[in-house]
Amino acid sequence: MLLRDGLVIGAKNHLFVGGCDTVELAREYGTPLYVVDEMYLRGMCRAFVGAMKQCAPDGKVYYASKAFCCVAMCKIAMQEGMGLDVVSGGELYTALKAGFPMNRVAYHGNCKTPGELRMAIELGVGRIVVDSHSEIPLIQAIAGELESRVKVQVRMNPGIVADTHKALQTATTDCKFGLGIDDGEALRAVKMIAGCANLSLTGVHVHLGSQIHGLAPYMRAVERLTDFMTLASIVTGAELTELVLGGGFGVRYTQEDPPTMDPYETVLAIAQETERQAARKGLRAPRLVLEPGRIIVAEAGVMLYTVSSVKPIEDVRTYVGVDGGMADNPRVALYGGKYEAMLANRAGEKATGTYAIAGRACETGDVLGYDFRLPPPEVGDILAMPVAGAYQYSMASNYNRVPVPAVVLTHYGKSEPIVARQRYEDITQYDRTPHWLG
Ligand code: LLP
Repeated sequence: MLLRDGLVIGAKNHLFVGGCDTVELAREYGTPLYVVDEMYLRGMCRAFVGAMKQCAPDGKVYYASKAFCCVAMCKIAMQEGMGLDVVSGGELYTALKAGFPMNRVAYHGNCKTPGELRMAIELGVGRIVVDSHSEIPLIQAIAGELESRVKVQVRMNPGIVADTHKALQTATTDCKFGLGIDDGEALRAVKMIAGCANLSLTGVHVHLGSQIHGLAPYMRAVERLTDFMTLASIVTGAELTELVLGGGFGVRYTQEDPPTMDPYETVLAIAQETERQAARKGLRAPRLVLEPGRIIVAEAGVMLYTVSSVKPIEDVRTYVGVDGGMADNPRVALYGGKYEAMLANRAGEKATGTYAIAGRACETGDVLGYDFRLPPPEVGDILAMPVAGAYQYSMASNYNRVPVPAVVLTHYGKSEPIVARQRYEDITQYDRTPHWLG
């Protein structure tokens, strides 16, 4: 199994994360449990922020909070000098609760509601990323009414197919995100914004997709977007100074995956290509912004489950049932996500068999994978699934009315919850009984 720095087999043959014994964590906080290793997480933040300082000194790193969002995470991103990408009123509200400086927040979304836009403008977010023509007059109207000036970027659709799962591609021609370069829609948006008294256009944005391994699509995006910036400034006179290339940087989930992209090499290559393309086109080198999400948090996270059943089916396979599944990690069901696992309480034992890990949901499809190599699991064992920090807690649901698990942060061998485990009364608290039901 993949073990990284800070994820080690320690005393009693137990798996340790961030200096904490995972078996103890499971005992103290219960399972299922999301564990986040603060040191590893901060290390990834620093790797990106540091690389940006070196390679593009006026560039910025905005953490894409959709990957994992809670007040503590926003505080960590803030302390590490990052900006924040939010995509909903809820994420924005979480940032506010964390005391995140609003001028370092970029507000995204292909379907922003008028209420969310008003909230974003009232709070004074640093940028709103325009994703449709229809939101332009709406932003202008709210900004006009509030007598504020709003800085906007336009999200482009350059028609680039990144090599990743189809559901994770976000810049193909037939995609709900962004405004087309080839069909002139992006340019039309630039012109519309130029005509809005309360809006200033600062730059262009693209997000190619997620879990992309390799730099080729980013290089292509830099070329296409700098072309657009040049053209847009000639045609409209608008000076576009910011180039946002989104996130998407691939992470290693299993040994079959390519290695996690290297933050320094990634930032360096993108920064150099941006400079090169800008120089070629007589464009002042734009201020580079990246929005990594998954790569910042994925490997810092480990999921802990308790084995609750072991069911052999003769000549077929053995299903190892755990107390979580698709409700706390929908990534397997949604994108065919692949994971590795180990028994945290018997971490040094040799894997002797292949097992399917079945989630607890009332769904045949709730299986976290069919080919985990493990020592023979027993009821009561703690099963650890690493690389659990991104898009798991943030995508969790109450399906089957199962409470969303707690999230615990490890800190030099200590731990504290950063999200409390839901209780049954939390789940029923929004239920209402019409009077005629008695
Ligand atoms: N910027 C924008 C505008 C985005 O839409 C996203 C992710 C990011 C940045 C961060 O991308 P990342 O670095 O995390 O790949 N639920 C899926 C991933 C969806 C990504 C959505 N947008 C999954 O679990 O694989």
